[in-house]
Amino acid sequence: METKKIVVGNLKTKMDINDISKYLKIINEQVIDKEVIICPTSIYIPYFLKQRYSVGLQNTFVNDEGTYTGEITPKQAVSMGIKYTIIGHSERRIHLDETDELINRKVISAINSNMRVILCVGETLEEKQLLKTDMVLRRQLVNALNGLSIDMLDNVTIAYEPVWAIGTNNVASNKEIARTANYIRMILHQNRGYENMRVIYGGSVNEQNIKELNQIENISGFLVGGASNDAKKFLKIIEEVVVNQ
Ligand code: PGA
Repeated sequence: METKKIVVGNLKTKMDINDISKYLKIINEQVIDKEVIICPTSIYIPYFLKQRYSVGLQNTFVNDEGTYTGEITPKQAVSMGIKYTIIGHSERRIHLDETDELINRKVISAINSNMRVILCVGETLEEKQLLKTDMVLRRQLVNALNGLSIDMLDNVTIAYEPVWAIGTNNVASNKEIARTANYIRMILHQNRGYENMRVIYGGSVNEQNIKELNQIENISGFLVGGASNDAKKFLKIIEEVVVNQ
């Protein structure tokens, strides 16, 4: 297992080209760690390539190659030097009706093309209130990773992203995150015989709460949405987690 912590910036769809140009002036100059994985909106990816940090996609297609209008295949991504893909983000589960079964096929296809997958799992507020968190996580993990060999699982990082924490400023507590990370590892161990899965946390991580969140011992990094769109805030997070490790 890789031991260095990672920070993934999920830029989503917030910036236009003017914002991107300003953003890159700071980021390309100052981000020099491969443990930082920036996932821009796909149309801007060429501007982020060949820098000192890593680049990822926010999604890849379910088949690794072929003709699928409007999609990006893992094979195409790899040919551009893109190593990472985020799969199963809750925004895609919710707005694009992505199912566990589809997510499973996307995970397999990405790994077959030699990509590394950041697989997002997490419960909604309603599920949390109904005390269904563990059940939901188990279902999402078991289904999304169905059929993966141990070698394939080596290419997966689980991002625990409670849906109620995304973009809300309601960050989960250190205790909740630590417990859930242990639970996720336990499921992987029980269900797949896989030890020490790398688990990162996402959901309202920002430059103010990162110091405290970074105290959690069994977390291998963070997936940052909103705050990664602000170059200065993102740099502070990177400094805390990656540079000072
Ligand atoms: P947030 O988003 O940091 O804005 O809460 C995280 C994510 O959606 O990955």
